Amino acid sequence: METKISVLLSQEEVEKRIVSMAEQINQDYQGKQIHLIGILKGSVFIVCELAKYLTVPVTMDFMSVSSYGDGTESSGRVKIAKDLDEGIEGRDVLVVEDIIDSGRTLTYLMKVLLARNPASLKLCTLLDKPDRRVPEADVTVDYVGFAIPDQFVVGYGLDYAQKYRNLPYIGVVEE
Ligand code: IMP
Ligand code: MG
Repeated sequence: METKISVLLSQEEVEKRIVSMAEQINQDYQGKQIHLIGILKGSVFIVCELAKYLTVPVTMDFMSVSSYGDGTESSGRVKIAKDLDEGIEGRDVLVVEDIIDSGRTLTYLMKVLLARNPASLKLCTLLDKPDRRVPEADVTVDYVGFAIPDQFVVGYGLDYAQKYRNLPYIGVVEE
């Protein structure tokens, strides 16, 4: 079976949008220090690109949670595979995610992080698939790069069975 990838969002579109999200975040966090939390592995490219354009002081940590196996279907199970290195109590935390799909992963994760008493807790995602949200997912997304239709996408950190993360654009897998 041959896999074809068609471009949904070009590298230029993605990077322009990340710059404008950074500008918004700089305004919203004036006088504060942002503790960025990247969700491995998908958000790595996005965190790095976003951080380059943040002008407020930034610290970073990473965490790995998963609700997916190697396919394209949500398993509904969420587990912390790698926790943060540092505590977040009293810090202004901005979680950076690649994509919000069913919303299960981030609903769970934001509850876990809120219980650690950050000064503030916000969520930034490059992509959002609002049509896929399940009713029990009550996650608030503060910064959305692009709302996209219900299609499985890869690239810019996003994978299909661990492949295609390195594509510099967002593409749709067609089989
Ligand atoms: P959720 O719990 O269903 O919101 O799942 C979010 C996670 O599922 C994301 O962090 C991705 O790892 C993965 N995911 C959801 N949709 C896609 C997609 O279209 N391409 C690649 N990964 C996806
Ligand atoms: Mg992910």
